[in-house]
Amino acid sequence: MPRRPAAGSPAARRLLASMTLPEKLGQLTMVGADWHADGPRLGPVARRAIEGGRAGSILGLWGREAVTDAQSLAREAQHGIGLLIGFDVLHGHRTIGPVPLAEAGAFDPELWAETARLAAAEAAADGVNLTFAPMLDVARDPRWGRMVEGSGEDPWTARAFAAAKIVGFQGQRLGWPGSVAATAKHFVAYGAVRAGRDYASADPSERELAEVYLPPFEEAVRAGAAAVMPAFIDVAGLPMTANKKLLRTILRDTWHFKGVIISDYKAIPELIAHGVASDLVDAAALALQAGVDIDMLGEAYERGLPEAIERGLVDMALVDQAVMRVLSLKEQLGLLAEPLRLPSPPPASESREIALRAACGSMVLLKDDTRLLPLRADHRIAVIGPLADDRLALTGPWAAAVRPDETASIAQALSSAFPNVVAPPASHDVEAALTAIRTADLTVLCLGETAEMSGEAASRADPGLPADQRALAEAVLAAGRPVVVVILCGRPLVAPWLFDAASTVLLAWFPGTMGGEAVARILSGAEDASGRLAVTWPRAVGQIPIFFGDRPSGRPSDPADRMTSRYLDCPVSPQFAFGHGLSRASAQLRALRIAPEGFRADGALRVEVDLVNESDIPGSTTVFIFLRDLVASVARPALMLCGARRCPLERHDRKTMVFELEASCFSLLGADLARRREPGEFEIVAGFSAAELCLRTQVTLSPEDLA
Ligand code: GLC
Repeated sequence: MPRRPAAGSPAARRLLASMTLPEKLGQLTMVGADWHADGPRLGPVARRAIEGGRAGSILGLWGREAVTDAQSLAREAQHGIGLLIGFDVLHGHRTIGPVPLAEAGAFDPELWAETARLAAAEAAADGVNLTFAPMLDVARDPRWGRMVEGSGEDPWTARAFAAAKIVGFQGQRLGWPGSVAATAKHFVAYGAVRAGRDYASADPSERELAEVYLPPFEEAVRAGAAAVMPAFIDVAGLPMTANKKLLRTILRDTWHFKGVIISDYKAIPELIAHGVASDLVDAAALALQAGVDIDMLGEAYERGLPEAIERGLVDMALVDQAVMRVLSLKEQLGLLAEPLRLPSPPPASESREIALRAACGSMVLLKDDTRLLPLRADHRIAVIGPLADDRLALTGPWAAAVRPDETASIAQALSSAFPNVVAPPASHDVEAALTAIRTADLTVLCLGETAEMSGEAASRADPGLPADQRALAEAVLAAGRPVVVVILCGRPLVAPWLFDAASTVLLAWFPGTMGGEAVARILSGAEDASGRLAVTWPRAVGQIPIFFGDRPSGRPSDPADRMTSRYLDCPVSPQFAFGHGLSRASAQLRALRIAPEGFRADGALRVEVDLVNESDIPGSTTVFIFLRDLVASVARPALMLCGARRCPLERHDRKTMVFELEASCFSLLGADLARRREPGEFEIVAGFSAAELCLRTQVTLSPEDLA
């Protein structure tokens, strides 16, 4: 874990001692850049605030010239303190990678860190020194548009994702050349918003908070995250921006987080709308008391804290502690003394290679019943559908400083990869589509969500295929000719009719700048689809929330027994299970072994899995290790993930994979929510998804192991 100097170096302390209250509040204030067609600029309001020392950070500014201008202004102001330049670099900066929900499905921590390193290098070259990423909200409700920003439904996956992304963005230490400070967001349980409606209240149980939503953030703190951003929402009635219990007691006092807490966009004044603050002074006092250090565009600290101090609602010590945390972060980023030095960007060819590899590794072949893949080079291929030419859809929401002109559409990429491609103007026009497919040997039908239908403020009560695409899809699929459906989306789309009618479906998610090429490589067989689902895919909206890690209930669902946990009008099984995904390699699990020495002194356990590729087609597979705690003092999830990793396979390959199951997998939160280990039997299950469980074995945690 990167070491942090003690909060408040002598230089920072001297600086603090020399600052007036308005200058201190300036360090706690983030202003916004102005957006222009050719990129962001420093507007007159932000410019005056920086010159007057009334702003210490800025949101949404990037570009060497614009940032150098802003940093020079700050250097010339009193005390010469550099600016935090914060930007939402979530899945790439100029070269966009697959959205996090897609990339999580690669189950490849090295890849997760590599794409974050690339994003940081491109962002740092543009003067960004703080990203508002990774987003670590576990999400089990596809109605919520922000599911796209995180790593899916599973806490173990989210923890692994958090650790990889923090190290990827921040490098060996804060201020590392070509790195940016990372912000773990949105703390906490944002994925539990009621009915999947963005910004709505969430009311998870204390147990769910501790077992599902908090662990990824604890991992991020352990990995050295520089900042944390509270969620907009209230959790059980306590708005996160004023939530002392979670921000101070848990985040700071229990986890010893020494970094900076940055409010979400205008979230401090929103405490008034939450109904917990009577005015801006009240809101500012509540946020500062809870431990929020920087006010993102709320103007609450600048305008509310002076009166809050006068009225004795907060004391200067709280202000000084917040300023010291900001100055400490700036010192680690070289913003207090060192001159501004912007690194060069990575070579475009390197960026595109990494983005292509990530896109290929994130796409999921959901179906290929009639073995249409790989497509034949001599085939006449019609590429149709409203998203066939939509390059912005490929890069999805939060596409940072994307350059659309560097993104090839699916139609363009297929036209380059295959000699006989017909690509009529992308549209919903059924007649034009039917005309195109009649003269083709095979059709690639591109459907799904546009970038605007996903991400923030994009909840959908009926998260299916957009209504205006169904008629086209039904007509094309009913035409009786070979069709490969390619889906672009940021969430599982509930469309059972589509998955019944289509024989071959490739889920591309929002694959990024190189997404078109990745689709072409997978359809041509140059790459084997190796992505898996990091989220369960519902059959019906009524099943939501649906996820593999639920508790079994006293009447586990049994289709043959009416009096069990089931529906009268829908199976309980999902459309596709967590971990689902097809690959052309034919992998089989042959053996599952527990290390002969059993549990180690640290409580961890090694297991080994033997697998083979029975086909003469090279490719890859992903092996999951689940755990079942058979009897415990509390009801445990029916399945808990505690290992997952992709494995490349040559033709007729035989391999052994080793998984180190950490001690926490074998412990639980007792009735009092205190972590404990209990003796008993555990079943270890190896499989290719939560529905494809292949091998099982048992291990006993004995009282001696607990001694
Ligand atoms: C937005 C989002 C947050 C983002 C911030 C800055 O409202 O909630 O994820 O980092 O504002 O853009």
